This record gives sequence, structure tokens and C-alpha cells, in this order.
Amino acid sequence: RQREKDTLFEANAYATKLYHYILRNTAAGTPAMDYLRSRGFTDKLIEEFGIGYAPSRWDTLTQALARNNFGLDEMERGGLLLKRQEGEGFVDRFRDRVMFPIHGSDGKVIAFAGRLMSAGQPKYMNSPETPVFNKSRTLYRLHEARGPIRKLRQVVLFEGYVDVIKAWSAGVHNGVATMGTALTAEHASVLRRFADEAILCYDGDDAGQAAAQKSIPILEEAGLRVRVGMLPKGKDPDEYISENGPDAFMREVIEGAVSTVKFQLIYLRKSHILLEEEGKIRYLRSAVKLIARRESPTEREMYLKELAQEFGVSIDTLKQEASEVRRQEK
Ligand code: GTP
Ligand code: MN
Ligand code: MN
Ligand code: MN
Ligand code: MN
Repeated sequence: RQREKDTLFEANAYATKLYHYILRNTAAGTPAMDYLRSRGFTDKLIEEFGIGYAPSRWDTLTQALARNNFGLDEMERGGLLLKRQEGEGFVDRFRDRVMFPIHGSDGKVIAFAGRLMSAGQPKYMNSPETPVFNKSRTLYRLHEARGPIRKLRQVVLFEGYVDVIKAWSAGVHNGVATMGTALTAEHASVLRRFADEAILCYDGDDAGQAAAQKSIPILEEAGLRVRVGMLPKGKDPDEYISENGPDAFMREVIEGAVSTVKFQLIYLRKSHILLEEEGKIRYLRSAVKLIARRESPTEREMYLKELAQEFGVSIDTLKQEASEVRRQEK
């Protein structure tokens, strides 16, 4: 078992070097370099994150692994190769993709994410689960972000690999991402060991907002305080940083991250038409319900006061309604 794992670590390290070499030093890598530059990747970022390129040939890695005496069956189980559909032998799993190595907590490469440079499906291809790669436990960049997370007692969660990388270059060194999958209780409990607070910095689209709604209770149940970084409609962190610069990102999105109640109130608002009395009342009811569920009386008072002022109702009425909700939900 351990021997097989060690072999996979070795093979992944080898593949990381090969993909990186191809990107940096070969003609086959030039279009990928151009692509990365056009997306604002500097040489420094490419080095720091070990980015590479898997060429479009069927057997670049297969041949190289064979020459280095790796067992190809084992490499297939390790997610680097695929069995040929017709005939004998193996082919490369990743072809014509920009390669992002994914590290385990001890810094060894355990998997890859490969991105197509043009439109096409799937946009990202990840390694399958293997003896060394478990998706529901892995967080992209945790091995490097752990130090800064511990120091700040805070972690920033992103949806995408590119978001983590661009945020890192903007000075956010405590950022990680899931593997394009939902955040799990396992992820949250790993993060709780290093952080007291999590900032959700998901894409500013419906999918990102829905994902944030799902992640909030998972993080809170693990004992983390949660805030949400708000992005303009349709923008993800990478796009925001490109358009507004690193300082604005740090100040507006990270430092300006709002409480989960605020985020949920903003979310709730979108589904209510506040021009009509009826819509206002429905919104107020749902808002009070949400606020009533907060444990801290100070927090409840603060949000109820804001609502009262905004809608021109008395705070006492809202408080009464909140107590009613709390009684019912006990
Ligand atoms: P870029 O377009 O390169 O900036 O990627 P993105 O991170 O902005 O992509 P998107 O917001 O669409 O997706 C967020 C994350 O979901 C990605 O970083 C991946 O982890 C994952 N993801 C996106 N598309 C796919 C896909 O086609 N397959 C898989 N397995 N994961 C995907
Ligand atoms: Mn290099
Ligand atoms: Mn998205
Ligand atoms: Mn995105
Ligand atoms: Mn993006």
C-alpha cells in the first residue's frame, strides 16, 4: 500500500516537472504561455504555482513514464493515464491542457487540474480519486496557505483555482479552494484547526451565491465565524482583480466582507418585489425570521433596528415578531 502511494507521489512529481518543462522550454508550450500571459499570469506566478502544459499528443507522458520504468498499470490507477479504448496499452489522460498541480497537506503533488485553452467541455478536468487523492478532504493550496491561515486565524474560500492564484498575487495568502466540488464537513473541520473565521469569496453569479448559502451552515457547524465577500454581478475574484486591482480587492471584497445575515438579507431581497406593500411585508417577515435565528441578542437588535429604520416600522413590533419566531422554533 505505502509502496504504491510512494510510487504515485514520485510519478506525480515527475509529471509536474515534465509539464512545467514543456510549458517553459518547448515550442509545443508556446500557445499555453501566450494563453497564460493573456490571462495575467506572470513568470513568478507560473513558477510559484508549478503550472505546466500537457501537449496534445496522445502519449507524451505515457512514453516518458515508460522510459523511466514506471509501471503503466499503476500509472493508470494513479490517474495519469487511461487504458486505450481499442487495442493494448495506455494513453495520456491530460492532453492539450494547462496543468495546475494539486498538493497534499505535506506538499507532495497528489493530483492535477487541467484547463482547456479554448471553449470546450469539460473546461476543467481533474484527476480521479486515487489512493493518494481524496476530493472531499483536499483543499487546493492548503499546504502553502496553512501558515498564513494560522497567523491570521482566518481562511478565504474560493471556487476556482485561478481565483486562489490571482488572490495570492493580490496579497491574499490565506486562500484555498475546493476541487470544483461542494464544501464538505471534512473540509470545514480541517480548516477549523487553523482558523476562527472563514470568508466566502465565491463567484458573483447565481451558482456562486447558491454555493455560499450551502457552505455557510457547514462552516458554522464546524465552529467557524463566517463572512461573505461580495462581488459585482457576474464577476469572479480573478475578473474583479483584473478590472479593479489588488488594493480594491483587498479593501472592498476581503476587508469589506459582510456578515452572513447581511448576505442572506441581500440574497432574500432579490426574490422580493419591494415596490408593493405586499412584497415588503413578505420580505420583512422572512428577514425577521432569519434574524430571529441568530443567537446573539445584540446581533438581533442591530439588524432589527436597521430593518425598522429602512421600512419605517417600529423596532418593538419587529422585536415582538422575532420573539414569536424564536418561541415557535424552540
Ligand atoms: P476560469 O474560466 O479558468 O477562470 O475558471 P473559473 O474557476 O472561473 O471557472 P468556473 O467559475 O466556471 O468554475 C469554478 C471551479 O469549478 C473551477 O476552478 C473548477 O474547479 C470547477 N469547474 C469548472 N468547470 C469544470 C468542469 O468542466 N469540470 C470539472 N470537473 N470542474 C469544473
Ligand atoms: Mn521553472
Ligand atoms: Mn463559476
Ligand atoms: Mn469563476
Ligand atoms: Mn474565472
